[in-house]
Amino acid sequence: MIYFEQLAYLFAATMFIMGLKYLGSAKTARKGNLYAMFGMTLAVAITLLISGIIGPAQMIIGMIVGSLIGAVVAKKIEMTSMPQMVALFNGFGGIASTLVAFSEYMEPSTLPVTMDVQITIVLSLFIGTITFTGSLIAFAKLQGLMPGRPIVLPLHQILNIVLLLATVVFGVLNVVEPSLPLWPLLIILVAAIFGITFVIPIGGADMPVVIALLNSYSGLAASATGFVLHNNVLIISGALVGASGIILSQLMCEAMNRSLFNVLFGAVGTDDSSGNAGTGGGEQKTVTRYTAEDAAMIMDTVQSVIIVPGYGLAVAQAQHVLHEMGELLMAKGIDVKYAIHPVAGRMPGHMNVLLAEANVPYDMLYEMDDINDDFQNTDVALIIGANDVVNPAARTKKDSPLYGMPILNVDYARTVMFVKRSMGAGFAGEANPLFFDDKTMMVFGDAKAVVTGLVKSLKEE
Ligand code: TAP
Repeated sequence: MIYFEQLAYLFAATMFIMGLKYLGSAKTARKGNLYAMFGMTLAVAITLLISGIIGPAQMIIGMIVGSLIGAVVAKKIEMTSMPQMVALFNGFGGIASTLVAFSEYMEPSTLPVTMDVQITIVLSLFIGTITFTGSLIAFAKLQGLMPGRPIVLPLHQILNIVLLLATVVFGVLNVVEPSLPLWPLLIILVAAIFGITFVIPIGGADMPVVIALLNSYSGLAASATGFVLHNNVLIISGALVGASGIILSQLMCEAMNRSLFNVLFGAVGTDDSSGNAGTGGGEQKTVTRYTAEDAAMIMDTVQSVIIVPGYGLAVAQAQHVLHEMGELLMAKGIDVKYAIHPVAGRMPGHMNVLLAEANVPYDMLYEMDDINDDFQNTDVALIIGANDVVNPAARTKKDSPLYGMPILNVDYARTVMFVKRSMGAGFAGEANPLFFDDKTMMVFGDAKAVVTGLVKSLKEE
């Protein structure tokens, strides 16, 4: 039986690795999800059946109830609220590891409890609890239940160091004197506080990086719990989550031209995009306003258009009508491309997912480095609900939170069209000087309404 179990675990782990591989490209991502789902179902089923925790009937009922809840949540959740949902899932993963490790401490499944198991119990309790409270704070910030800006306490970093040292002391005491349940409880308490003090100084725009990092922690906690339970599939799946989470955090930091250290300890960021005027410094400048009909008339005369989607496209849910507009332009013989900035939107791959949902062909989507040289030979850069990712202040304004972030070179195009509701800034709260450029046309309005107007006018012409 034990060989069958290990063989099934090996198979499940292979499915996870293949799932991750296929998730690496938009074309194969669905297949990747299916592989990983199959691996996870197998791993859970084998664990429950072989250990005799529950019978097949209970398992099937549990799977049906769980799948229904998951399906409803997935259907109901807005794409823009996905980071919050991931934060909650990470938190649940973390607390699950803490609870399992604590129950193993109280009633060990294998005796005697060796020192390596004691050490992994400490790690599991500590990382799992940090993940739990840190994720709850991340959720509260993103959901607007608490201020999204960085909150820095007096002597914040010293407090964090004291909490870390306290954990080491309690952890060592736990290994040396494991009979006292006081130590694990103290570790949980200190880790719970550390999770809060770790996340509160991180600001709005940096939250997705923290969520990827907490995702990584939830994996590490699961992996440590795998060592506690001597469960290979938990060790492997936890390690995969841990590694992919940290790689994702690093990639996001690189795309924002920031170091992970700066994101975690820099206390950079503002509350949200709303209400920030785009003028910068209160100077009186004017912008040129146009309507959707004006924009359509210009579109009718050009040869090439690069569409730059951003967070506002997701808010407006304008992806389907945008696809329709792209098709109409192509039918008129215009060269149409989509330029994707790595941190456009609010989560990794946000724009790719959005455009894939609207069936925009993958080969029309270009990564920033592949398309940036094309803007100079393009008639129109059409920016739909994007701001920070095209803000030239990132190149020049040294005191800007955007400074150093690579941007899409839309200002090199012959005409720049912004579709957005107001002069409001983007997530970083930085004014965009391009709004006032002579070649810029501002088409104010909700992205869906404006693009629908564009489609209507293009059909009439
Ligand atoms: P933003 O800079 O946030 O700009 C979005 C713009 O969309 C806003 O200026 C807003 O202007 C407009 N908008 C909002 N709702 C709209 C609607 N219904 N219709 C039309 N326009 C609408 O977005 P971006 O350019 O995609 O940049 C993303 C930002 O998030 C970057 O600062 C990035 O660093 C940060 N970030 C992203 C990630 C990932 S992984 N994607 C991770 C960390 C941080 P109005 O209010 O005037 O309409």
